[in-house]
Amino acid sequence: NGKAIILAGGKGTRLWPLSREDHPKQFVEFKDGLSLFQLTIERLLPCFSPKDIFIVSHESYKFTVLNQIQLLPGVKNAIKNLLKENIILEPVPKNTLPAIMLSLKYIESRTILNENELICVLPSDHIIEPVNDFEKCIRQAETLTEQDKIIVFGVKPTFPKEGYGYILLKRKFGAGYLVDTFVEKPSIQKAKLLIKKGGLWNSGIFCFNKKTFLGELAACSPSSYKYYQYTYDEFCRNFENIVADSIDYGIMQKTKNAALIKFNLKWSDLGSWDSYLQFYTNGKGNFTIGDAEFFDSKNCFAYSDNRLVCFLGVNDVMAIDAADSLLIVKRGCSDNVKELVSAINKKG
Ligand code: GDD
Ligand code: MG
Repeated sequence: NGKAIILAGGKGTRLWPLSREDHPKQFVEFKDGLSLFQLTIERLLPCFSPKDIFIVSHESYKFTVLNQIQLLPGVKNAIKNLLKENIILEPVPKNTLPAIMLSLKYIESRTILNENELICVLPSDHIIEPVNDFEKCIRQAETLTEQDKIIVFGVKPTFPKEGYGYILLKRKFGAGYLVDTFVEKPSIQKAKLLIKKGGLWNSGIFCFNKKTFLGELAACSPSSYKYYQYTYDEFCRNFENIVADSIDYGIMQKTKNAALIKFNLKWSDLGSWDSYLQFYTNGKGNFTIGDAEFFDSKNCFAYSDNRLVCFLGVNDVMAIDAADSLLIVKRGCSDNVKELVSAINKKG
């Protein structure tokens, strides 16, 4: 029951050399050859009917999206076809709030969207295990959306990170908690303070019903809300004029109507090679995707498409071997890949 909207238009490039602007993080093939985008669809298929799963992305990723749906293992063609019919393409990237608004308009124009129906918005750049517990959390969230809340999912933080949203809780509320404060991308100092106060990371998944979402949109971002008066086609034509904004800044930081469900499961946005390794090894031991040999080497990581990668007498080294570039980075330093990539781009 309900509708799911997968956000798949971001530009995540921190997993260079595998992620590029024309092939962002969510589409990079990982473990078992599947991308985070494909894993997101797999995770949703037990929870939503395929005709109710929508994918919103940028026009330039259309063929990647179609191709990755086609390559989903163990999914019947009839289901793949339903998913392919539900692709929404933005003419220009405007971040997540306009993407969500456009998706809702699209859904309204094609099918019936009840005022009180569950709408679940999910990023496509995350990994969550075990999958079964995920469905339980969505159903818990559904009970809170019925009380006209916007639901976020909280993850216990393991270190202060600037790139996440932080949530402080007020008190228990049904299956979850009422949200006291939501802070998007704080400084490291502020992140440390928020963690000290018991703050949780925002996982980036949101649940709500249409009535609540539009009420909060009108109250928190009236200039964006105006675009909701358009029909879907008019909205597309005027899309380049809407102010770029994320749901985190545009609604979550301002609303007084948020509630939280705790994610007591393994979650990572695999935002860097370090967090990638952390997720799979808990920080210890060697790990490989593709062919690798480790001799007298500890805590190393290799990703290789088609070559054998060998480590001898080195510790804490990650080697990511892509078709046209090889990255060698010390563990703990991969957050700086973004700076490395912009330096390379400047050189041309
Ligand atoms: N369609 C579309 N259009 N999708 C987009 C766009 C866009 O313009 N921009 C981003 N996305 C997609 C990304 O592909 C990703 O799946 C999701 O929306 C979230 O966007 P990110 O750009 O990755 O956000 P973030 O990681 O900086 O922050 C969000 O996620 C964190 C957890 O990973 C926030 O919700 C934070 O509060 C949260 O902690
Ligand atoms: Mg992200």
